[in-house]
Amino acid sequence: MIDLNSITDEVVGEYDLKDDRANQLVHTLIRYLHGYAREVQLTHAEWRAALSFLTRASQSTNESRNEFSLISDVLGVSSLVDLMASAEGATPGSVLGPFHVHDSKEQANGFDLRGEQAGTPTLFRGRVMSASGQPLQALIDFWQNADNALYPQMDSTQDYHNLRCKLRTDADGTFAFRTVLPQPYGIPEDGPVGDLVRQAGRTCMRPAHFHTIVMADGHLPVTTEIFFDHDPYLETDAVFGVREKLITHVHTVTDSAQASAAGMPCPFSLVEFDFHLAPQAPATR
Ligand code: BEZ
Ligand code: FE
Repeated sequence: MIDLNSITDEVVGEYDLKDDRANQLVHTLIRYLHGYAREVQLTHAEWRAALSFLTRASQSTNESRNEFSLISDVLGVSSLVDLMASAEGATPGSVLGPFHVHDSKEQANGFDLRGEQAGTPTLFRGRVMSASGQPLQALIDFWQNADNALYPQMDSTQDYHNLRCKLRTDADGTFAFRTVLPQPYGIPEDGPVGDLVRQAGRTCMRPAHFHTIVMADGHLPVTTEIFFDHDPYLETDAVFGVREKLITHVHTVTDSAQASAAGMPCPFSLVEFDFHLAPQAPATR
């Protein structure tokens, strides 16, 4: 019969999912949940509060907002999974976030994403290489927020494709495109996640960043973010996305010959970053 000693094994034994990995995931989850409840001697009132938090999360979730992803982000689980998935020698991964779209347009290397919009004119350039330094022809999926700190999904005045594109590097791995500096911004804080972050005395702000997914044949793709060393929120990112290797310096270029060679106004900001991709593991039979 079920008692305090037997209940965890009894419950685990009821879940045979016919797939070793699924069993491992579900059985371990049950054991950790039960272990947690035992360790903290969970009360009815506390468990009801936890379920009410999740209920409020579901009520804050809609087509354009997923409060459960935010829970994963602010508890550092998204970043933990990113770090575990980061391959040796490759650029470390960082959070995908909710603003990636699958259908951004492919643009030519050197493209001008900035157009006439407000913001600090910025040239983003670099190379994609293998972990051992060989140049790779790669596809870079890129997105960022605008000078008002908003992504197109949050701002009906922006075109759907504003400040996002897919871009193929040259054969030597080099890429360059023109954009504006992104801005720090706050994750949505009007739901239960905002309450939790505030109660903890944390900030909802994220440091400014470029988002990229970098892909090349025969290599593991890297989903990551590029941060800037002047940013006041680097140490307190609400979603724990900052890694040492992802922080770069923003150079201010005041030389007009350099500006016109780059097709930039003078002065402009220059961000340089090289990506490294690890080889795909050979298929196992
Ligand atoms: C973002 O980088 O855009 C983001 C990441 C996590 C939560 C909210 C926004
Ligand atoms: Fe973002």
